[in-house]
Amino acid sequence: MRNSLKQSCIIATSLCFIQVLNAQADNTQILADCKTFAKLFRNTCASQDTPAASIAALTGVTVSCPKNEICPVGSGTSPPTCSWVRKLCVTCQIENNRVFIRYQSNGLPDHCYGGKPNVTSGIYDVKMIYDSPLDQIPTKNFTSQDNYDQETCSPGRGGQRNIPRAVNYSMVANDTNTAKFIDGIAGFALNGVPIFTASSAEKTDPYYPKNWAGSSTGKVEIVDACVGHPQESGLYHYHMLPPCLVNAANLETSSVCEKVSSCINDVKQYSLDAYTATSKKITYLGIAKDGRAIIGPYAADGNLISCGDLDQCGGMKLDGGKYVYVYLNTYPYAIGCFGPGQAQQYAPSCSTNTCSSLKSEAKSVYQFISFGLIAVIALINIIY
Ligand SMILES: *[C@@H]1O[C@H](CO)[C@@H](O)[C@H](O)[C@H]1NC(C)=O
Ligand SMILES: *[C@@H]1O[C@H](CO)[C@@H](O)[C@H](O)[C@H]1NC(C)=O
Ligand SMILES: *[C@@H]1O[C@H](CO)[C@@H](O)[C@H](O)[C@H]1NC(C)=O
Ligand SMILES: *[C@@H]1O[C@H](CO)[C@@H](O)[C@H](O)[C@H]1NC(C)=O
Repeated sequence: MRNSLKQSCIIATSLCFIQVLNAQADNTQILADCKTFAKLFRNTCASQDTPAASIAALTGVTVSCPKNEICPVGSGTSPPTCSWVRKLCVTCQIENNRVFIRYQSNGLPDHCYGGKPNVTSGIYDVKMIYDSPLDQIPTKNFTSQDNYDQETCSPGRGGQRNIPRAVNYSMVANDTNTAKFIDGIAGFALNGVPIFTASSAEKTDPYYPKNWAGSSTGKVEIVDACVGHPQESGLYHYHMLPPCLVNAANLETSSVCEKVSSCINDVKQYSLDAYTATSKKITYLGIAKDGRAIIGPYAADGNLISCGDLDQCGGMKLDGGKYVYVYLNTYPYAIGCFGPGQAQQYAPSCSTNTCSSLKSEAKSVYQFISFGLIAVIALINIIY
């Protein structure tokens, strides 16, 4: 009796010990995975282990552009030759027994930009749990078209209250200018540039605007040949799939989209062409504020990922179960909402450039045909 109790205690203790070991093994694996991911960013720091004390303390890299029309505010250079220091450091740490990823950047691009906007640096210093377990996150479930539009067609939905609590997102530091716009940011690109939520301040697609119940009159916004631009206080950012993340060397980055015929004629095709030419495979493009990766528009088999394959938030699971967002050239571009989301059911009402393989599109075609038939019948009635 005493012996068997002793035995079960030994078994129980070693089980506990094995469990502790397992948890450590898991974190060791997740930490290694996080660092592999962090190394994909165009870091200006040497190590993916230790975050910089501040963005100011972070070592930068100088970017030079021979043909810019205006240099960034405070860069001390003058056109046509501009140079600026970009700073970016992505690191992974264990805190409270979870793997956190920290993103520190001043937001300045690694490519030239076009036009004459006053570009300023920002302070982007955030952290969140890396690739947190999906079973701890409720599936985003929209109950009506309006419910979905209010989320996906509004700016400012990258705020802390919109990010699943379980990922423990927090802003470590900011300045007043960046703080005002931080909620408009959904994620961050590989080169340090923030990716804003899909919609413009007018609550519509900045490239293919469409008025809807919740929007003010939408206009096509001016972007450069990287399909990026600064907002009114100078923070440079992307909405649509940015061609210059993969193909800057072959593009007229110091120009505006208006002056590049392939860009102005068909901006969505122009954006995608950069990836078709260079990255017909899974390409990591950035990180969302909920700690999940953003990948490019091509799958591992070299095929274009169809927007119809994504959930309502614009995400999908890769082989192995990792949930990622897919950056497409159709609205809502990088992130529709922080997922995982329900199966796709609604197309955004604020864009003429949405997924064409949606069930609701089929429905609207059907409605269009029925409406047409009714109109024909009405016309026949009038004639006779
Ligand atoms: C996440 O945030 C919650 C609430 O603030 C806190 O109780 C918890 O300890 C945090 N978890 C980690 C791993 O930091
Ligand atoms: C850029 O900033 C300068 C100096 O602050 C100002 O004179 C100029 O009007 C600004 N240009 C734009 C396009 O905002
Ligand atoms: C979404 O919400 C609706 C209405 O509350 C419910 O009927 C449906 O089962 C939910 N779907 C999911 C995937 O949670
Ligand atoms: C971010 O900026 C806001 C507004 O300026 C400020 O209230 C807040 O304390 C700042 N947060 C951090 C972590 O610096």
